[in-house]
Amino acid sequence: MTVDQLSQPEPARRRVIKIFLGGGLLASFASFLYPVLRFLVPPKAADLGSDSVVAGRVGELKLNSGKIFRFGNRPGLLIHTASGEYRAMSATCTHLSCTVQYRDDLRQVWCACHNGKYDLNGRNVSGPPPRPLEGFEVQVRGDEIFVRRRREA
Ligand code: FES
Repeated sequence: MTVDQLSQPEPARRRVIKIFLGGGLLASFASFLYPVLRFLVPPKAADLGSDSVVAGRVGELKLNSGKIFRFGNRPGLLIHTASGEYRAMSATCTHLSCTVQYRDDLRQVWCACHNGKYDLNGRNVSGPPPRPLEGFEVQVRGDEIFVRRRREA
């Protein structure tokens, strides 16, 4: 190799390869660093301690039906009874924590995991669930249905 060849600019192909290699190293470094940062600085869980949520809208649920809504980090169950009342309770079964659902044919809350059943007040009436479901207060404000945890007196 002569002195003239050494002083010439780098060929474009070599520069492109260097850029790709540098980018790959940078991406690898970022992929290792990101999980570490997420572990050290966890995201804020804004609604985990929330006492009240909008579970649905008036007119959204037909009579004798139910829906699952998110209450903090847990599911809740909103029921529009056949008589037109709204009821709300935790949708986490007290047996082994499966998510329960409203069964319009039984007019009960039902857990598909082991055939546990609860009445419309959340009381365990048959099957393996050992305790009632946690009941929530329901308030209709305008066209929104608010659900709130019951406060201990
Ligand atoms: S988890 Fe619900 S009945 Fe077993």
